[in-house]
Amino acid sequence: MENLRHMMNPLDFSVEELESLFDLAGEIEKDMEGYSHKCDGKILATCFYEPSTRTRLSFETAMLRLGGKCIGFADASNSSAAKGESVADTIRVISCFADICAMRHPKEGAPMVAASRSSIPVINAGDGGHQHPTQTLTDLLTIRSLYGKLSNFTIGLCGDLKFGRTVHSLINALSRYEGIRFIFISPKELRVPDYITEMLRQKGIQYEEVIKLEEIMPQLDFLYMTRVQKERFFNEEDYIRLRNFYILDKEKMALAKEKMFILHPLPRVNEISVELDDDPRAAYFKQVQYGLYVRMALILTLLNIK
Ligand code: NCD
Repeated sequence: MENLRHMMNPLDFSVEELESLFDLAGEIEKDMEGYSHKCDGKILATCFYEPSTRTRLSFETAMLRLGGKCIGFADASNSSAAKGESVADTIRVISCFADICAMRHPKEGAPMVAASRSSIPVINAGDGGHQHPTQTLTDLLTIRSLYGKLSNFTIGLCGDLKFGRTVHSLINALSRYEGIRFIFISPKELRVPDYITEMLRQKGIQYEEVIKLEEIMPQLDFLYMTRVQKERFFNEEDYIRLRNFYILDKEKMALAKEKMFILHPLPRVNEISVELDDDPRAAYFKQVQYGLYVRMALILTLLNIK
């Protein structure tokens, strides 16, 4: 198929293409009704080999709101993967049924393998600890909407920076914008991987690594909280030791700028106290709403629907 495009990594789209995508998401936000038949007759397949609630439902809602239909599986034990089928074969089969596919997989690179064999657009909906491009598009659109631009701010990323794929994807994507300063806040054991700090050093981008959240709080424009990724730990003891390392509460928020926004890809475990949910700076549920608009915009863009 000519012009077949996938979304494996946020960098697959240029900064200009992302701007157009966010503009389209903005149009959709203003006029959901106007977009409600754009995908009439189209089918989205969601192939989820790893647990998910919001990402899968967000994709399915996006397609349903565009007038299309959805097929798929949410549990690989119900699919032919349990019989030993490869993702390469699965996608060839899915290509016969659906117009576009969103795939989540515990193995890094699996959606890429699928894309290389696919005749329909494939969207990486999260691959292991690697990338999660549509969460990143969600995060970028949220930042752009709340802050007015995607440049000149300080963002703190806090929690599990080692295994958190949303963190890896977001740093990757933000490294293309001007004047972004990163502060990485994590225990030693969960530091951001070396390949990422190496990339930042090579690009001459400023970053700092700290352990204590309190000391850098007043500098931040955004605080991106993450949960400790229990399922990616090799032993339970380490997880138990680290799971309560950061808990954002009113006391810590009192140190923040009046306009510092809290982001979180969700699900939250205990790293943000529920007492903050009504704080006007808590933007994590708004983020979910932006995630829907941006997935609608992405489906339209990859299907070449104007
Ligand atoms: C994230 C993920 O799956 O990586 N969730 C999501 O898609 N919104 C974050 C997480 O699981 O912690």
